[in-house]
This record gives sequence, C-alpha cells and structure tokens, in this order.
Amino acid sequence: MKVCVLAGDGIGPEITAEALRVLEALRADGLKIEFEHALLGGRAVDATGDPYPEATSKLAREADAILLGAVGGPKWDTLPREQRPERGLLRIRSELGVFANLRPAILYPELANASSLKPEIVSGLDILIVRELTGDIYFGQPRGIEVRDTQWGEQRVGWNTMIYAEEEIRRIGRVAFEAARKRGKKLCSVDKMNVLECTQLWREVMIDLSKDYPDVELSHMLVDNAAMQLVKAPKQFDVVVTGNMFGDILSDEASMLTGSIGMLPSASLDANNKGLYEPSHGSAPDIAGQGVANPLATILSAAMMLRYSFGNEAAAVRIENAVRKVLAQGYRTGDIFEPGTTRVGTKQMGDAVLAAL
Ligand code: NAD
Ligand code: IPM
Ligand code: MN
Repeated sequence: MKVCVLAGDGIGPEITAEALRVLEALRADGLKIEFEHALLGGRAVDATGDPYPEATSKLAREADAILLGAVGGPKWDTLPREQRPERGLLRIRSELGVFANLRPAILYPELANASSLKPEIVSGLDILIVRELTGDIYFGQPRGIEVRDTQWGEQRVGWNTMIYAEEEIRRIGRVAFEAARKRGKKLCSVDKMNVLECTQLWREVMIDLSKDYPDVELSHMLVDNAAMQLVKAPKQFDVVVTGNMFGDILSDEASMLTGSIGMLPSASLDANNKGLYEPSHGSAPDIAGQGVANPLATILSAAMMLRYSFGNEAAAVRIENAVRKVLAQGYRTGDIFEPGTTRVGTKQMGDAVLAAL
C-alpha cells in the first residue's frame, strides 16, 4: 500500500511524525506500507505559490491512502482565498471525492475527568459523526463578495450558497445507515429544515432512504437542539449524520466530550474506501513548535486508515489498544493533563505508544 503523507503546517509535522513511527513499527512487523511525502497548505504556498500543487495532487491520486496532519496558520490568513492553506485542503477532499467524513467521538474511561462535562454524563460515550465533506455551503456556487445596492445604500455584501443534490444526500445517508447497522442501530439526522430548503430536502431523502434500512431507527433533530443535546445528554446518540458545515461544528463540540480535540481522529472516504485520514483538529498555531501537541488523534487516524483502506482490522485494533494502554498507564499531553498523571510531550507520547505496541 502506498501512503501519501501530507504533514502540513503548525503542529502538523510534529503529530504526523509520531503516527509515522507507529506505522513504521508495524512495517517492521510485516505490514506492507510505503510512504511518499508531499506539500500541502501553507508550506506548499511558500514553496510553489499553490496550496495544493500539481505534484501533490498526482501523488495523492496515485496513492492508496493519504495521511494528513493539519494546514493553516496566521501567516497565510491574509492571502487571497485561492492561495490559502485551507483551500488546498478543500481541493484535495473534493478532487479525491472523499465525501464521507467519519469522526468517532469515544471517551476512553481514563479521560472521564478530562472532559469538561461531568463524568457521569460522558462515561461510556461512543458516538460516530458522519459528516458530508464535499458539498454544502463549503462548495456551493455562486459565492463571493461584491458591491450591491442594499437598504443601507451601496456597499459590499458577502454571500454563499447552501446546496445539496438528492444523490449527494443519498450517498452520505447510505454510509451512515450502513455504519448504524453495524453499531447501535440508531441514526440521528441533523438538519435545519424549519428554515432551510436545502436541509428540508436532506430530511426528505433520509426518510425515503430509511425504507431500505428497517432495522435502523431513524430520528431527526434540528441542529441548534442537537448542539444543546450533545452537551446535555450525549449518550442518547449512536450515529449522527449531517451536512458539511453542521458536521464541522458539531464534531468540534463532540470532541470536548472525549477530553480534548487532540483525541478525535477522522477518516474521509470515497465510494471505494480510498481515504484521507487526518485528526479533526487544526494546526494549533498557539502551541506549534513546542513539542507539546497531542499526537493521539493522528495516531488513531492512522488506525482508521488500516481499518478502512487496508482492510487490516487487526493492525487497527493493535494501535487502538496501544493508545488505551498508554492512557491507562497515565501518560497525558497538556490538553488532557490532570493532577496525578504523567505529563509528556508529543514525542514522549509517541514513545509510549510504541512501547505499548
Ligand atoms: P485548532 O484545532 O488548530 O486549535 C484549537 C485549539 O485546540 C487550540 O487551542 C489548540 O492549541 C488546541 N489543539 C488542537 N489540536 C491539538 C492537539 N493535537 N493537542 C493539543 N491541543 C490541540 O483550531 P483553530 O485555532 O481554529 O485553527 C488554527 C488553524 O488550523 C487555522 O488556520 C485553521 O484554518 C486550521 N484548521 C485546519 C484543519 C485541518 O487541517 N484539517 C482543521 C481545523 C482548523
Ligand atoms: C476541519 C477543518 C476544515 C473544515 C477547514 C480547515 C477547511 O475545520 O477539517 O474540520 O472546515 O472542514
Ligand atoms: Mn473543523
């Protein structure tokens, strides 16, 4: 298997390095895996002027899977939109057609006190957020900023288009129903159908699709209520399916239930399980270069890569068990630290996972 590694910006290179060490340890044990590194994001802009250079696109298209750190940072925030690191990320997701973004929010028992919610609210939490990743207001046309006549006179307006085609909703719905079927058989579809036509269609398609999945209990929730229910009683959820923007916001919220966003991995899959694997968090410019970032979300994303793109469940479970073990041993990066545990940096956390493997 050929893996294209895109370390990216900020903490990206630091956390990706630890995930690579874990994969290399498995290679030493016989896993057939090769790595090729390429530029994406801010460092790609600096080197080539393009956040997603053609050379990177070629490697990504030829690879069996992509492992990504994170992109972005204040240095590039004032560039024209097309040159921003985040645009590179959106382009690679779109070009590869990885429309199904799986973001599992699992609370490891040892982290019950690291969550900002009471342990009894979050203990045993195991939610899968299925976020549509290549459509919605993120990609909808037309969009822009231009001068228009408004009730306040002539001035600039900014606008975007929230749009989903039926088939686009159906294919992410199928992924979510299939996932629910393999888990707790409960699927909650999150929308804003009381206001937005785009998500009214979303709900209609989900209801229609549910006829093919009589064994899965489908429910619906408006996104504002879902945001509230996630912190009120998160264990009511099994699988949640939602659009690109609502999924972005709800998955960051769900991450805090697990202790830290540094714990939340993700897999972005196309129709054939070719995947792009990245932590759900960003490049964390505030802690970049300090060697303190939590690499576990990226290491767990590597485990998801073995599960979905390599079809190697045993290797995935081996990594996940190693992560459980280091948490049980008391190793904590700053984001999940609490008194009585051992505070470690990024590399020491990687060392501990390797030892546990
Ligand atoms: P962020 O996720 O980078 O950081 C939010 C907070 O969480 C920060 O305090 C950060 O220190 C902390 N944090 C994040 N990951 C952590 C980890 N592994 N260990 C410990 N703490 C961690 O979000 P932001 O600050 O809103 O965005 C920063 C930059 O990252 C922006 O340029 C944004 O566009 C980009 N971003 C990229 C991705 C991606 O590449 N997939 C995702 C989100 C944000
Ligand atoms: C994420 C990020 C990205 C998104 C940004 C950086 C484009 O927040 O992966 O969650 O909004 O999808
Ligand atoms: Mn996000």
